[in-house]
Parts: sequence; structure tokens; C-alpha cells
Amino acid sequence: MDLLKEKIKNDGIVINENVLKVDNFLNHQVDTKLMDLIGKEFADYFKSKNITKVVTIESSGIAPAYAAALKLDVPLVIFKKQSSAILDTETTIQTPVHSFTKNTDYVLMASKKYLSENDNILIIDDFLANGQAALGAYRILKEAGSSVAGIGIVIEKSFQDGRKKLEDLGLDVYSLARVSKISSDGIEFLN
Ligand code: G4P
Repeated sequence: MDLLKEKIKNDGIVINENVLKVDNFLNHQVDTKLMDLIGKEFADYFKSKNITKVVTIESSGIAPAYAAALKLDVPLVIFKKQSSAILDTETTIQTPVHSFTKNTDYVLMASKKYLSENDNILIIDDFLANGQAALGAYRILKEAGSSVAGIGIVIEKSFQDGRKKLEDLGLDVYSLARVSKISSDGIEFLN
């Protein structure tokens, strides 16, 4: 998506070789017009897949996921992060997730009442790095009996192995910008 790549080039801040700061349009301040176009891009790509719901992980996935769900005319379900497992396994599904980028652990959680065997889910997230958040969402959806139609990512860090892990599960990963290198000389893209 050319407009997104322009935005990343112009407004993205290189923190180090692994981390790109995009606070002024995606993670902190949100460019709503860009989100609208991102939603349309995801909806166009996945429109033939009979998506019944979009799933994302709080918090930075919410803006692009909301835009995609609106364009696909389906509900958005936000998976929650907890610092520890909660006892209610009767009404919730939980799975542990480790973030290598932030070196943190959390429990990803969803209520069973918003997921069913009849659902065909599109997972949307802001970043794909090592794939741990998307894999956690996938585990929850499998436990709920839902199908996963694909994964939409705003910024993929292609030099990390998240895409490979998801593709090894047979998942269709559609990333709007694939960053191949982050350095003090600038940001490079694969596509
Ligand atoms: P993974 O899910 O692909 O394995 O990624 P990882 O755990 O390594 O990192 C996940 C968290 O780190 C996510 O935020 C993600 O948005 C953020 N992240 C990863 N790489 C970058 C990057 O280059 N730049 C920025 N700005 N963020 C990055 P989170 O913990 O889920 O928090 P939230 O922002 O969604 O609340």
C-alpha cells in the first residue's frame, strides 16, 4: 500500500534495528483517513472469504481492525490482555503469550459468547514481528471451533519470522507494508 509506505518513510522513527516508532499515525495518535483506507484495503482483499467477524488484540490493533470490520460490515471482537490467568474458564478462553519485542508475558483472553463454530474469522493486527500475538489469537479461535480465514497486518517486519510461523499453519497473511530493514540510513520495504 503505497500511501502507508510513504507515511512510514516520512513519519516513522527508527528506534533501533528492530523497532520502528509509528506513534503519530498508528499507535498513539491515529490518522483516521489512513485507517479508513487501510480498512478498505483489507476488506477488498478478504471480501470473497465470507468473513463473519474481525478479531484483534488490544490496544493498537483496534483502529485498523475497526476500519476493516466496518467495511466488511461485520462485528469486531477485541481480545483482551491480562497480567495473569483469570479463574473463569467456563465462559472464557485463555492462552499465554510472550512478546519478544517488549520482553513481557501476558494472558490473552476472549469470551466464549462472541465466538462459535459458525464463525469465519479475519484476524487484524498493527504489527507482525515474531507472530506470538497472532498465534495466541489463533489458538483461542481453534479452541472456540471457529475457522480462521486469514490474517491482515498493517506493518510486517519481514526480517523476523512471524509470517513463516503463520504460513506454516496454512494461514493467508496479507501485510500492507513489509519492512525488510530498519537502520539509521532509513527504512526498506519488500513490496
Ligand atoms: P509478535 O506478536 O509478532 O510476536 O510481536 P511481539 O510480541 O514481538 O511484539 C508485540 C508488541 O510489540 C505489540 O504491541 C506490537 O505492536 C509491538 N511492536 C512490535 N514491533 C514493533 C515495532 O517495530 N514498533 C512498534 N511501535 N511496536 C512494535 P503490544 O504489546 O500488543 O501493545 P499495544 O501497542 O498493541 O497495546
